Amino acid sequence: MGDRLPIAADPATASHEPVLLNQVLDGLAVKPGAWLIDGTAGGGGHTEALLACSAPNGRLLGIDADPAAIRRISVRLADALAAQRLVLHQSEFAQLEAVAAAYAFAPVDGVLLDLGVSSFQLQTPDRGFSFSQQGPLDMRFDPEQSPSAAEVVNEWPERELAELFFHCGEEPQSRRIARYLVQHRPFATTTALAEAIENAVGGRRGARLHPATRVFQALRILVNQELQQIEAVLPQALRLLRPGGRLAVISFHSLEDRIVKRWMAEEARTYVADPTHRYGGYERQPTLRILTRKPVMAEGDELNRNPRSRSAKLRVAEKLPFNLV
Ligand SMILES: C[S@@+](CC[C@H](N)C(=O)[O-])C[C@H]1O[C@@H](n2cnc3c(N)ncnc32)[C@H](O)[C@@H]1O
Repeated sequence: MGDRLPIAADPATASHEPVLLNQVLDGLAVKPGAWLIDGTAGGGGHTEALLACSAPNGRLLGIDADPAAIRRISVRLADALAAQRLVLHQSEFAQLEAVAAAYAFAPVDGVLLDLGVSSFQLQTPDRGFSFSQQGPLDMRFDPEQSPSAAEVVNEWPERELAELFFHCGEEPQSRRIARYLVQHRPFATTTALAEAIENAVGGRRGARLHPATRVFQALRILVNQELQQIEAVLPQALRLLRPGGRLAVISFHSLEDRIVKRWMAEEARTYVADPTHRYGGYERQPTLRILTRKPVMAEGDELNRNPRSRSAKLRVAEKLPFNLV
């Protein structure tokens, strides 16, 4: 992987650094004039670099569910907006095809999805994503959507909470935590919930992760329907790509990565006709070529500079022409 763009080494700006930036640019192989979609525009870091690589006349459709992210990028990348190289749209990426159609933005050369929560969201206590800063229990990317994390924690039955913490947080003490929360609710703030979770599991006991980490992950996934969103967007991204176009997905936990990995593997698979099969068998051509046999992960300096990069996994695939086999 190349070393093309200098990356800020100032720790004060490190938290806004786009993860695996050069690896994404290499993976998408962006050329001047490319048409690109950034489905998770966030702080605009990847968007800005993609616009630079596709200069002078490349175009990018930037989508984010969070209206605050769209507002921030509009300011940061005002020049690209004015030059009509950038179009911004507030929407969940499960609507990708409809949004692209509304702007006549297809076919495209590359699609990027950098999943999950942005550092801006994490560092804004009012959004309720972080258990280390006091804020309302919210966690919605789009504050117009419902439910909020508070509605889930304070209203769901104990058993459903336990299942949520187990399936979406992979929390081994899900039942114990759910029982404790139901006995001690309602909770209004992130820190009150985090403290209750700590009490439920009997303190931190030298654990590497804060005991609230997995429960917060589960609530965020549920509130934003994150796994369903990924399932919905992948086939749409594929349909929007021109043959030879590339899809890059960065995930931050195993539930996300598993969906991406399985879907890419399925799309890359060839079903060969089997004449001995009872119904004559069938044939299906692969639609994707996987370019990252193993996920690309951060290395060296990036790991030290940007803690968020430690769990990032990048997978890249290329859309195949239909008459390959
Ligand atoms: C990890 S950040 C992206 C950071 C961005 N690549 C950058 O360089 O600044 C993820 C962003 O995706 C947005 N997001 C997450 N899930 C989404 C979804 N289903 N639809 C649209 N936006 C989503 C979040 O609001 C957040 O701003």
